[in-house]
Amino acid sequence: VTPPCLSRYLASYEMPRFAQLRPTLHAACFPLMKLLPARFMLDRAEASGQLDARGHIAETTSGSFGLALALLAAARGHELTLVTASGLIDPDFKHRLEFLGARLLVASDIGGTGGQGARLEMLKAVLAERPGTFWPHQYDNLDNALAYSRLAELIVRAIGRVDHLVGCVGSGGSLCGTAGFLRNLFPQMRVVAVDTHNSILFGHSPGKRLLRGLGNSILPANLKHELVDEVHWVGALPAFAQARALYRGQGIYAGPTSGAAARVAYWVADRHPETSVVVIFPDEGYRYQQTLYNDTWLDTVAGWPPRLTGGPRRVDRIAPGGEADWTYFNWRGRSLEEALADV
Ligand SMILES: Cc1ncc(COP(=O)(O)O)c(C=O)c1O
Repeated sequence: VTPPCLSRYLASYEMPRFAQLRPTLHAACFPLMKLLPARFMLDRAEASGQLDARGHIAETTSGSFGLALALLAAARGHELTLVTASGLIDPDFKHRLEFLGARLLVASDIGGTGGQGARLEMLKAVLAERPGTFWPHQYDNLDNALAYSRLAELIVRAIGRVDHLVGCVGSGGSLCGTAGFLRNLFPQMRVVAVDTHNSILFGHSPGKRLLRGLGNSILPANLKHELVDEVHWVGALPAFAQARALYRGQGIYAGPTSGAAARVAYWVADRHPETSVVVIFPDEGYRYQQTLYNDTWLDTVAGWPPRLTGGPRRVDRIAPGGEADWTYFNWRGRSLEEALADV
């Protein structure tokens, strides 16, 4: 049984605080957004008998979903195996997960594309070895998206009407889950997705990506393309620069995907000054102290510092740009097949 003090602490930690970036632009700033779907998925799995008390959990993840699972598994007494890839995990983060009791299996990732295939093979081997293991499967488990009913409710209570919702897409859970609930209340609301170049989510070919946390090299069931009105592909450089500006200008110490989302959200708010814009910031900056908040590391990144132009370049053909580029495409609620067929 989860000790009540722990469950209450983690339950409040899974929700965001709001920052008003402009009179009509609000950011939902999560310390660790993935706690919300991870906790919900574990609750549902326990309720349906898929996960026993003290049972074993296994997942393939390179980032914050793994940390969320590790925190919950430690507090609730579950065993946890995480499969990750060599190019995606740094020693400090690995240590942090292992400190919480997680077992880490690291697949090699020579191409730097995330090693999704090799990771999935390793995970399947773990599932075969340990029958009864619960695999949360954040990409395809629809409970991931359903968990965001709490965020939608909080947004409505704190802000009221939403005309534009801006958010990153990795699994699709946060943006599509939140958008799905909010659209019931605000049918005209526009959904603006933030991806990065060389991610396949909105039709790029897979390739090396410097901006991690959003984007994907496989297509998750939690991404509902038909909910999306506009897609932005933000390169790592403008995302890093905007995250640093958020810290200096607003005191918001956030990760690089929040930087990417903020960049898009400011632009949307500028273009539609009479409307209410909400943007989702998925995590804090502590994990990125050695990278985007470290000038020595940034000096090793080709193209840093970027020249910040006013806005994105509109594209009519879906094709990746470079890490300094920011492009957007009028998606218009189409399926992936429809959007690719139309261009
Ligand atoms: C830091 C960060 N930002 C954004 C995302 C994308 O969120 P989602 O998986 O809900 O699409 C993730 C997903 O893991 C993340 O870790």
